[in-house]
Amino acid sequence: MVKVTFLGHSAFLLEGSKRVLIDPWIEGNPQSPISIDQCKGADIYVVTHAHGDHGLDDAVKLAKSHGGTIVSIYEIAMEAGNKGVEKTVGANIGGFFEVDGVKIALTTAIHSSPVGAPTGVVVELDGKRIYHAGDTGVFYDMKLIGELYKPDLALLPIGGHFVMGPLEAAKAIELLGVKKVIPMHYETFPVLKGRPEELKELLREKGLDCEVIALKPGESYEL
Ligand code: NI
Ligand code: MN
Repeated sequence: MVKVTFLGHSAFLLEGSKRVLIDPWIEGNPQSPISIDQCKGADIYVVTHAHGDHGLDDAVKLAKSHGGTIVSIYEIAMEAGNKGVEKTVGANIGGFFEVDGVKIALTTAIHSSPVGAPTGVVVELDGKRIYHAGDTGVFYDMKLIGELYKPDLALLPIGGHFVMGPLEAAKAIELLGVKKVIPMHYETFPVLKGRPEELKELLREKGLDCEVIALKPGESYEL
């Protein structure tokens, strides 16, 4: 079993035999249910890209105070190393690699990044595969991500403006063929207008059988 806890915006904690924090933006995140001092850190921190709302700075802070490995695209991992993080794994969009017994693959994301390039990530923890799309628009190769990695759960942005809105996220779900989705990257800022109810309605119209699990910050889902 993997416990998936939503920490607001795009931040998730995956807990199984290891703790994996993805995009751990905590300080300054208006949705975060915890303060950075309350965060116990993780074995692995995955940062999808270097925009401030995806937690590179907090990942660096947490790794320095609690240990753990920062995993990201090569240039971002280098930057974390230059900021004094002891353990980093720089990778790129390609195939699976293993960190601390956890299988990770970086995937395409259609977005921008002040350092490196933006990515999504597939994490395989205790036999469960979770796809965190990062910040992205929809793209046809999501079909490839679905076919290759067969995620049990997808974490998809739905806010619009900087990322997919509900219309694009519904198409993403169709392309991925995924049966469980947790929406993210909405409501944090006024421009992030997409809501889970709109996504559910669009899936109904499409006749797609996918459970939309809308978590409030601090809530968990057991996969
Ligand atoms: Ni971004
Ligand atoms: Mn973002």
